[in-house]
Amino acid sequence: MRLHLGSDHGGVEYRKMLAGVLREAGHEVASEEGPASAGDSVDYPDVARDVCRQVLGDPGSLGILVCGTGQGMAMAANKVAGIRAAVVADPFSATMAREHNDANILCIGQRVLGSELAKMLVMTFLGATFAGGRHARRVAKIDAAGGP
Ligand code: RB5
Repeated sequence: MRLHLGSDHGGVEYRKMLAGVLREAGHEVASEEGPASAGDSVDYPDVARDVCRQVLGDPGSLGILVCGTGQGMAMAANKVAGIRAAVVADPFSATMAREHNDANILCIGQRVLGSELAKMLVMTFLGATFAGGRHARRVAKIDAAGGP
């Protein structure tokens, strides 16, 4: 799987850790956005926007965004048309976000999750497949949603 990773300063350790784990598992980390160290403070919406562009420009790829909680990244990413970003903290949701919601970006919180759980959630997300069928109709409605 081709992946685009990003983090702000609050998620930089997990971003780097996950990039290594994913490469070892045979995935392609096609891009990595964000600061080099936790001391380099950046604004998470900027990183989210860049990763969204990478994912949308690379059909079939998925994104992983890490910040302190995952929440700000998801809020920013979900403003971008065509992006469906899911904040996940348990394996069932990691599976369902792909199977039912066709999420194309996983958001996790470095300040929320232990590192082993974070790895498990990423692998679970990547191992799941969109089920299509009635879920495709619902996902199309998400993508079509805009105004009130
Ligand atoms: C940065 O301090 C923090 O606000 C950010 O990483 C994230 O948790 C926002 O949702």
